[in-house]
Amino acid sequence: MWNYRSRDIEREHSQAELSFWLAVGVWGQGYMSEALKPLLRFGFEDLGLNTLYAYHMIKNPGSGKVLQKNGFVQEGILRQRVRKWGVFEDVKLWAILRKDWQDETTYTQNGYNLTF
Ligand SMILES: CC(C)(COP(=O)(O)OP(=O)(O)OC[C@H]1O[C@@H](n2cnc3c(N)ncnc32)[C@H](O)[C@@H]1OP(=O)(O)O)[C@@H](O)C(=O)NCCC(=O)NCCS
Repeated sequence: MWNYRSRDIEREHSQAELSFWLAVGVWGQGYMSEALKPLLRFGFEDLGLNTLYAYHMIKNPGSGKVLQKNGFVQEGILRQRVRKWGVFEDVKLWAILRKDWQDETTYTQNGYNLTF
């Protein structure tokens, strides 16, 4: 039904790329927003990463929403970064740092109401 990958880990910089996709029939039910939470924990706590980043084609705004809801910050636009079905597509680049994730996790544990 769903899939994700933590692609190549760049050990020198303690960072990895995250990508994800979901079967069309179950889009829009909040699954991916929830699925990312344990993945972030795995990346920062178990893998010891400092940065997780992801990018998506600009024409897939849902992906950006999922990332934003999980604390990712938009870092820029990479022009014609991917070729999809023969067409070069611009993508939005997002990232979350370990310190951002820790701050938000602490905040959540203290009972504050967060949006992600
Ligand atoms: C992007 C994708 C992972 C979203 O998964 P999902 O489980 O449907 O997402 P959620 O239900 O958690 O939705 C998160 C938010 O995005 C919004 N959203 C989802 N699809 C959207 C779309 N096509 N356009 C605009 N907003 C969208 C939802 O309304 C929701 O916002 P809300 O919380 O304010 O209501 C899924 O649509 C997918 O697999 N797409 C194709 C592959 C892809 O683009 N992969 C990403 C590569 S990085």
